[in-house]
Amino acid sequence: MTARIAVLASGRGSNLQAILRAIEAGTLDAEIVGVFSDRPAAPALQLVPAVARWSAKPSGFPDRSAYEAALADAVAASRPDWVVCAGYMRILGEGFIARFRGRLLNIHPSLLPKYRGLHTHARALEAGDTEHGASVHFVVPELDAGAVIGQVRIPITAGDTPESLAARLLPREHALLVAALRLAAAGELAEQGDTVFRHGQPLLNPLSLDSADRFDP
Ligand code: GRF
Repeated sequence: MTARIAVLASGRGSNLQAILRAIEAGTLDAEIVGVFSDRPAAPALQLVPAVARWSAKPSGFPDRSAYEAALADAVAASRPDWVVCAGYMRILGEGFIARFRGRLLNIHPSLLPKYRGLHTHARALEAGDTEHGASVHFVVPELDAGAVIGQVRIPITAGDTPESLAARLLPREHALLVAALRLAAAGELAEQGDTVFRHGQPLLNPLSLDSADRFDP
């Protein structure tokens, strides 16, 4: 059964574009039932027909919980099987998370639990790391702290800047997100507490995406 995916995005939407391309190519059995943004001008919104767009400026609401309630109602109305934060740059509150817990995912550009939060590429460089990467994880109230489903690794090379690292990582992020959504769409994934279960078995380590964009079996 085709999985219904709602996407939250704040910017250009390159991850959303990767999902749409995989659907188009027939490598992801899903449909995008809505794109939701905190920025009405977000280019990501233009990637889907107007009927599937929802956006609102948080500043238009009396407070953050009112904005998040409106966002959650709009997302719920799209009847998603999965809700994916793909370049969504606001921290989601407990109220929103509670409504979608267990089917709420995020793509984060670091090898979690390293470098939760922002400026992950610069922090990896400053730390002198020899590798960097991205993680797809379930969303929990603590920032970037949910159970990690899968990761992809790239080497850090001499002369790398935060920009060159981000640029080299982005296509690998896309492949990671699509591969994780393929498992989600197939009904293979579940979040139980702080553990990911795949086919009913707990994942002791995040799945690792290989160079052929496949997870280790
Ligand atoms: C990506 O690096 C993603 O990992 C982070 O936001 C960045 C932009 O995402 N969460 P997108 O290009 O808008 O999908």
